[in-house]
Amino acid sequence: TPKTVAFTPLTLRGVTFHNRIWVPPMCMFCAVDGMADDFHFVHYGSLAIRGPGCIVMEATAVSPEGRISPGCLGLWKDEQISPMKRIVDFAHSYGQKIGIQLAHAGRKASCTRGVCNHLVDESEGGWPNNVYGPTDVPFQEGYAKPKAASKADLKRIHDDFVSATKRAVTAGFDFVEIHGAHGYFLSSMSSPASNTRTDEYGGSFENRVKYPLEVTNSIRKIIPEDMPLFYRINGTDWLEPGKGWEVTDLVKMAKLLKDAGVDFLNVSTGGADSAQQIPVKPFFQVPFAEAVKKAVPGLAVGTVGLFCDGKSIESVLKEERADVVFVGRAHLRNPAAVSAFATELDEPIVLAPQYIRSVRRRH
Ligand code: FNR
Repeated sequence: TPKTVAFTPLTLRGVTFHNRIWVPPMCMFCAVDGMADDFHFVHYGSLAIRGPGCIVMEATAVSPEGRISPGCLGLWKDEQISPMKRIVDFAHSYGQKIGIQLAHAGRKASCTRGVCNHLVDESEGGWPNNVYGPTDVPFQEGYAKPKAASKADLKRIHDDFVSATKRAVTAGFDFVEIHGAHGYFLSSMSSPASNTRTDEYGGSFENRVKYPLEVTNSIRKIIPEDMPLFYRINGTDWLEPGKGWEVTDLVKMAKLLKDAGVDFLNVSTGGADSAQQIPVKPFFQVPFAEAVKKAVPGLAVGTVGLFCDGKSIESVLKEERADVVFVGRAHLRNPAAVSAFATELDEPIVLAPQYIRSVRRRH
């Protein structure tokens, strides 16, 4: 029996995750034409054999123009399925759960790899003239001037999400996460800071969340009944009060997403507006996950941000501020981070059997 909440399994629909320390989506920016390659296989494989309760594969574009950078993964064509399936099958052979984040970068598309802070033009593989946002206002200086998405564009992006989801199911992923955070397309439609449309998709809160909910409803309809659906959402845009998406919007949206069949909310913040002021410090994003956990019973919630020790993770879970803690960069530094946390929390470590002698005490 686990001594800690961190190492207590969590079941969502038909999937049981063996612990509550999960790997959040993190772009590696090294794909060619959206295809997963040996780097992705080794990268995700090395995490899968070292015990996190779940891996969310990086933001994967539903269309070529929906990539953040030329190096983003994609699921816009059938050829992209089999290299993903190879990773999924490997993870499953070690009992590891793995899902995928499906994304459209919106007005933050066609950016440099890695730091993603300026536009990439055609000569460098970019697509600055094929970038879409809620309006034609750029994210900030140095980014593409987007086209305001027309009804036809909205329909196409919706259909791209649906097609990519079908491919993710074919690849065998345990779940799908919709990227609705960080100022990318769905997030930019939700936030009043970026969505100043005057049609039925802009203006009021209800109008702004309509499009992300349509996409969510369509995805829920086509994935298997026992497959959990995740949604990554912003808790706040970190703007002055009244200027952007806020925790009250988060809670309202969380209820609507639960009604649309979302099982798990991956709560992050920021990235929606360049005027953001983020007070980065340990636990800074926990209150947002906690707000959802208190207000929306039955919806599982994850928090994230700067976690790199077992005691901090366990405290958040034990105080029921979240159901899951994501550990991002600490996993890039050490793919066996969960084993270190297990040792710290005096739990049995979870490693592939090949590594069994690494834990046998010599004395
Ligand atoms: C990220 N993050 C991120 N978020 C997301 O929703 N989709 C993504 O593809 C990415 N890509 C990405 C790449 C890299 C290199 C980093 C460092 C981060 C954000 C990530 O999921 C997480 O929220 C943050 O890294 C904060 O958690 P840590 O790293 O402090 O544990």
